[in-house]
Amino acid sequence: MSADGIVLTIAALPWLIAGGSVALALVGVTYGLRERQRRKGRPLLDRSPVRPVSPAEVDPVFTPGPLGYSRETEAVLIGDTGATATTSDTEAWLLSVMAKRARRIFEFGTCTGRTTYLLARNAPAAAEVVTITLSPETIEQYQPDGDDPESARWAAIATRESAASRFFYEGTDVAAKITQILGDSKNFDETPFAGSCDLVFIDGSHAYSYVKNDTAKAFRMVRRGGAVVWHDFSPACAGVWRYLNELGRTVPLMHVRGTRLVVTKR
Ligand SMILES: C[S@@+](CC[C@H](N)C(=O)[O-])C[C@H]1O[C@@H](n2cnc3c(N)ncnc32)[C@H](O)[C@@H]1O
Repeated sequence: MSADGIVLTIAALPWLIAGGSVALALVGVTYGLRERQRRKGRPLLDRSPVRPVSPAEVDPVFTPGPLGYSRETEAVLIGDTGATATTSDTEAWLLSVMAKRARRIFEFGTCTGRTTYLLARNAPAAAEVVTITLSPETIEQYQPDGDDPESARWAAIATRESAASRFFYEGTDVAAKITQILGDSKNFDETPFAGSCDLVFIDGSHAYSYVKNDTAKAFRMVRRGGAVVWHDFSPACAGVWRYLNELGRTVPLMHVRGTRLVVTKR
């Protein structure tokens, strides 16, 4: 290379480095956007079909006053240790307040029965809480969907979470309000509950086919003016995430900010 060529190359070096950095940055941004799109499971520039809302948009009882939430939102609560699959303290509080005016509540997925207990504890004296779960004796009823790549994962989780041999509410003064069903929600006949539930809480198997099954049943069970609430709306629970993002295109769904709860009013 001639001396002129060397001088030219040296002069162009900063431009070459800058160009390389821009190209690297572009690759990084493209990867980041693709990854975000993959996790969200919807087109990049699409608005979420599940609208983020404050608790007050779900129910005016949650409208804060100058001193914060009113005493109407007082509820009995037991903290979440984080050791079992259950609702966070905020989620349990929101559900408990909703239970205060409910006469019939249905829960898909009991686990330890902590949320079942809180729903019954906060509901009026004459209220009824019905909850369905798989148990060590009924776990073989679980019906995996062979077409779902997540199927085996959720079947294993269902087995782990169906180990309870006793429930939180047993022996308490609200146990009489609670009816425990042991069995698979795909086998569950919701007909006797049609149009009768004030609140249906969907927190059973998070596999797509189960979220779809439980939602169809919940919509038949809820009465006019009642609410259906889903738990675990998060990309980590792909079945719940994908199903609710699809459903949100035809049914108004509200995602309560700061929680994994999604609510619809019928
Ligand atoms: C996430 S836990 C429920 C937590 C509970 N709702 C709470 O807030 O404490 C999931 C529950 O769903 C139950 N479950 C899983 N698959 C089910 C199925 N196919 N039918 C009925 N219950 C199922 C499990 O046995 C487990 O009790």
